[in-house]
Amino acid sequence: MSAQPALAVENVTMRFGGLVALSEVSLEVAAGEIVAVIGPNGAGKSTLFNVVTGLYRPTAGRVRVAGEEVTGRPTHQIVALGVARTFQSSRLFTGVSVLDNVIIGMHALSPPSVLQALLLWGRTRRELRLAAERAERILQSVGGNLYEQRYRLAEELAQADRRRLEVARALAGEPKLLLLDEPTAGMDDRDTDALIEDIRRIRRDRPQLAIVVVEHDMRLVAALPERVAVLDYGRKIAESVFDEIRLNPWVQEAYLGSTTIDD
Ligand SMILES: Nc1ncnc2c1ncn2[C@@H]1O[C@H](COP(=O)(O)OP(=O)(O)OP(=O)(O)O)[C@@H](O)[C@H]1O
Ligand SMILES: [Mg+2]
Repeated sequence: MSAQPALAVENVTMRFGGLVALSEVSLEVAAGEIVAVIGPNGAGKSTLFNVVTGLYRPTAGRVRVAGEEVTGRPTHQIVALGVARTFQSSRLFTGVSVLDNVIIGMHALSPPSVLQALLLWGRTRRELRLAAERAERILQSVGGNLYEQRYRLAEELAQADRRRLEVARALAGEPKLLLLDEPTAGMDDRDTDALIEDIRRIRRDRPQLAIVVVEHDMRLVAALPERVAVLDYGRKIAESVFDEIRLNPWVQEAYLGSTTIDD
């Protein structure tokens, strides 16, 4: 096992013109660890993911993945180091099957494009069969009944299953670092609980996988992560275990209501 953190964000600042989306943000995530990032709309959470995955080059600061500096490198190089993500708004390939969405995920983990679909062509039957078998195992491993729905079109899935499929697709590249951007968006409590179980199972099966999850839903934030980082206007204003974070006045105000929290 490498002693290097799976992810090290060091003093990252990201400016868009006069807007400071991230201001000297640092965050470390060890292999096997789950860290949640919370904060209000516009706090810079997705920007952080975009910087880590090379979509944005930070104005200042560094990003290291498994010890290797990746600041400003193109996304495909960062993906090759074992970084996968899901997007806040669904980026599934709606015109293809659930199974093919996962197979596509094995080849490239950036937002899907027609080019990626074309990657499916020109493969030998044996390659395709092996890929399909692997994709089926991944679908079985994420829970729910995605596996049973594997031949349906992605667009026919219920919202919760689409989110699940995005996670499955991200896992297809066997990442070392998984970034989930609001995976429970649009889910009710029941689906959220199911997703929490999915993530627990994923972690059990992949004990070295580091996960960063941007999340608004306190159910998930309370249930999963070892640590919680709070962003506000691009600054990290707190970072601790959930039991401490929940006592933070800002967090109480923003997320938990101003009344005391019942256990
Ligand atoms: N490409 C861009 N160009 C200009 N401004 C941007 C760009 N990307 C993000 N921003 C701005 O940076 C700030 C942070 O945005 P970001 O999407 O990271 O917030 P967020 O914390 O993910 O919010 P939400 O909870 O709504 O998803 C916002 O003010 C946003 O408008
Ligand atoms: Mg966002």
